[in-house]
Amino acid sequence: MSYDLIVIGAGPAGYVAAERAGAHGKKVLLVEREEHLGGVCLNWGCVPTKALLACAKTYYNASHGAAYGVSADNVRFDLAVAMARKQKVQDGLRQGIRGLMKKFKVEVVLGTAKLVAKDTVEVGGARHQAKAILVCTGSRPAKPPIPGLDLPHVKDSSAILSLTALPKRLVVIGGGVIGVEFACFFASVGVAVEVVELMPEITPGIDTECARILREELAAKGVKFHLGHKVTKVTAEAVHHVDAAGVETATASDTVLVCIGRTPNTDGLGLETVGVDVKNRLVQVDERCRTNVPGIWAAGDCASRIMLAHVGSRMAEVAVRDICGESDRMRWSAIPGVIYTSPEVAGAGLTEEAAKAQGIPVRVAKWNLAANGRFLAEFGGKGLVKAVLHEKTGVLLGVHGVGGGVSEQVAAWSAMIEAEFRLRELTELVFPHPTVSEALRDAAWTIAH
Ligand code: NAI
Repeated sequence: MSYDLIVIGAGPAGYVAAERAGAHGKKVLLVEREEHLGGVCLNWGCVPTKALLACAKTYYNASHGAAYGVSADNVRFDLAVAMARKQKVQDGLRQGIRGLMKKFKVEVVLGTAKLVAKDTVEVGGARHQAKAILVCTGSRPAKPPIPGLDLPHVKDSSAILSLTALPKRLVVIGGGVIGVEFACFFASVGVAVEVVELMPEITPGIDTECARILREELAAKGVKFHLGHKVTKVTAEAVHHVDAAGVETATASDTVLVCIGRTPNTDGLGLETVGVDVKNRLVQVDERCRTNVPGIWAAGDCASRIMLAHVGSRMAEVAVRDICGESDRMRWSAIPGVIYTSPEVAGAGLTEEAAKAQGIPVRVAKWNLAANGRFLAEFGGKGLVKAVLHEKTGVLLGVHGVGGGVSEQVAAWSAMIEAEFRLRELTELVFPHPTVSEALRDAAWTIAH
């Protein structure tokens, strides 16, 4: 069969590409090797973890509700019910994607695709040709060469979603985004959690003050952190790790979660056969998501160092516009990021540390959420919002925050950064009161005089 576009992989890059191209009137084939569309995001990542985190938050708030006048008597957490709710959320969204593919007349084939020529994809022995091919094959959990990771009680971020009983003692290897989200989930429902992180602070790349506050708040929920510790081996009883001085600690655990990054799925696809440039397993693309081979584009985790669902979707849209002869390009300066812990962390644009590392002179405006009415009334705990502005021009370069409610603000922060708002303009905006969002305006005023 012949198509305008063949999309390989039906995650948030692939299915969005298929939808956009279908809406444009293109004849599209979408190939997926798993049973369900939606990719890691919908099946083992963003969606199921957020559904579970919502259950954990509800349980935690109910069992710590005394100060809100809520009795904590008889509050208990039922993992099976939480898993069933997660499944229901996933099923609804899976159906939604199927519906979209139908609406836009996208043909869906389940099977493993392989490029056999620049314009030809093979799936289950059948060959399909297209004017354009878009590779959206995603990523999988990285498996470091640490002895013991094949033991049955060691899980990756996908396998841990199939637990049928809560662990008693969980050790999380890697205090990155996945590690802290799962640490938050399990600690909130009463599991003893310890996180072993190689770097001196959790969530490298996140504003360090926000990361510290997140760590302190998770510690208050009972999570124990081993910072600057490298895992050397895992046995049936314990996770062994050493600090910078070489002192070894053995932390007992019945379940281990490994989340030390993700590996792009670019092997076995035939990319090298057709001459696509792949470096360190990552497909190399330009700002329009074109590979070096005319007719082949790539989007999402297989072609981006920032492995986020929304980045994949945006890359896919850029690629489809390029395929359709329209102009668009990826802009990387204000990509929003969220960590869905309690408290949440969100940020867009440059952090203070990144600006300094790039030699960009900045002013930083901060607002402590302990002085925000809505935050105090609804969330409490520690929280902070900080804006990073160019020292000379006052242009907004980044906004970062930690605390209840920040995840729903980060899209606005991104828009302000993209629109190159200046300090003066931040002070001229009207924010709704009382909302946590006012913290940005309050922060701006601290340096606007
Ligand atoms: P990550 O790169 O965020 O964190 C991995 C952590 O493991 C780092 O802190 C690193 O220093 C540490 N580490 C590496 N080797 C280690 C070792 N031997 N011992 C101890 N610590 C070690 O990777 P993660 O958490 O696996 O997430 C993968 C990707 O998925 C990321 O790109 C992330 O952005 C994305 N993701 C995003 C989410 C969100 O936006 N809310 C949620 C989940 C994942």
